Amino acid sequence: GITRHYKFDIQMANVTRLCRTKSIVTVNGQFPGPKIVAREGDRVVVRVANHVPYNITLHWHGVRQIRSGWADGPAYITQCPIQTGQSFVYDFTIVGQRGTLFWHAHISWLRATLYGPIIILPKLGVPYPFAKPYKEVPIILGEWWEADTEAVISQALQTGGGPNVSDAYTINGLPGPLYNCSAKDTFKLKVKPGRTYLLRMINAALNDELFFAVANHTLTVVDVDALYVKPFDTPTLVIAPGQTTNVLLRTKPTFPNATFFMAARPYVTGRGTFDNTTVAGVLEYTNPRSAFPAKGFNKKLPLYKPILPGLNDTSFVANFTSKLRSLATAQFPANVPQTIDRRFFFTVGLGVSPCPENQTCQGPNGTKFAATMNNVSFALPTTALLQSHFFGQSKDVYTPNFPIIPLMPFNYTGTPPNNTFVSNGTKVLVLPFNTSVELVMQDTSILGAESHPLHLHGFNFFVVGQGFGNYNPATDPSKFNLVDPVERNTVRVPAGGWVAIRFRADNPGVWFMHCHLEVHTSWGLKMAWLVLDGPLPNQKLPPPPSDLPKC
Ligand code: C2O
Repeated sequence: GITRHYKFDIQMANVTRLCRTKSIVTVNGQFPGPKIVAREGDRVVVRVANHVPYNITLHWHGVRQIRSGWADGPAYITQCPIQTGQSFVYDFTIVGQRGTLFWHAHISWLRATLYGPIIILPKLGVPYPFAKPYKEVPIILGEWWEADTEAVISQALQTGGGPNVSDAYTINGLPGPLYNCSAKDTFKLKVKPGRTYLLRMINAALNDELFFAVANHTLTVVDVDALYVKPFDTPTLVIAPGQTTNVLLRTKPTFPNATFFMAARPYVTGRGTFDNTTVAGVLEYTNPRSAFPAKGFNKKLPLYKPILPGLNDTSFVANFTSKLRSLATAQFPANVPQTIDRRFFFTVGLGVSPCPENQTCQGPNGTKFAATMNNVSFALPTTALLQSHFFGQSKDVYTPNFPIIPLMPFNYTGTPPNNTFVSNGTKVLVLPFNTSVELVMQDTSILGAESHPLHLHGFNFFVVGQGFGNYNPATDPSKFNLVDPVERNTVRVPAGGWVAIRFRADNPGVWFMHCHLEVHTSWGLKMAWLVLDGPLPNQKLPPPPSDLPKC
């Protein structure tokens, strides 16, 4: 591979959406941010210089970071933030991945505007396992907030209240013509007839899983989270925050006399407040008659809009999810761990903690909302875990006692237990190098069932099983798919259900795992794995780079 150099200057920029101008944090003044393009096997070097009055870190979401854990980026997990006026060089190599990932800020809620695509092409001379597309187009779904998201989250953390709801969804940063004062900010994909386009879909929204479709066009799913899957056709995608999906779109054989919308709106499982609006973009055939005028709708042409599933269409989502399978060929094998060293069971859900004095909290009976794994709400330390571990200074920073729950039948989705109060702590789970892990994550319905897109840093994992209701350790494992389960880095724990994953802990370091709904992460739905060095020199985490920021 070769080395690709990027310079990311974090700077404020004025951006106008929905007829209002707002100063936002950007990379190089661009929104969405610049794309990183690399081939599998390339080294990527990004010099990040912080010129804004906020602490910054960037995360290369889904990049495995083999032996380069210092470059992973979550604040206070692998690094202290880059302070105003400082810089840091992220240096990593792309190994065994090809498809689409994305980068985003990994501190507070700054990823609301700090995000961009990572395009990973196959090694030179290695073709795609599908027909070569005519063109490739990144499509990033996001949320636009008129409020300052840093103010929204600090308010929500103090009072434990449901955070403010975004004002629009966006396609490549543009809300589109279904919002007031927004028709000129419409994403247009210009296409020719009879061609195949590769859409590189990314969900960078803070808090919503999204449905996406293009009117009158079928999508063929070929890759998720930078790993190939067995292709399948679908009218609609569902994509959770943190997930990426590559799809092929075949255009009509001849110029149609029509305009087609593409659109996205949320899939909602049990939240009280959410934005139920729709972002639209235009699939515009390049004959002049199909042009979508800047001012809005062309009344002379028929306009087709996609029909998206209902807001809570869980059966569509379950059906879509069940179709995802690894390619599992000789060239792209599915190396599912067949024997397991450690089996873990994590509950995932919402709870409450006591309201601080002199505050009005919005949880039940005046409590504050919290979110947990195994009833622990993770507290971010004030110095980075990876540094503390590497230099043997863990005392007072973290404790290696993440709770282990015995695997036994238990009713997690029935009547809530009496005590919904959570405990707080910076508890990590320690794994020896190369441990093969099976982890079952069970949604609890203590304060209502809700789906949680769980993201694991530093690894891909195989999704070997999932179901609704309570996981049954006596009967469910016999139904696991150990042949061609989908491999990915972010998986939905279904609302009122469970998911089982397997991975091999072959990457030493401290690896964050959290819900990719930013509101739940902020409430504490996160934990960290500490994977120890192996005995051989190439099984150890190298020392930190000399410019690693200090807290
Ligand atoms: Cu995309 Cu820890 O995040």
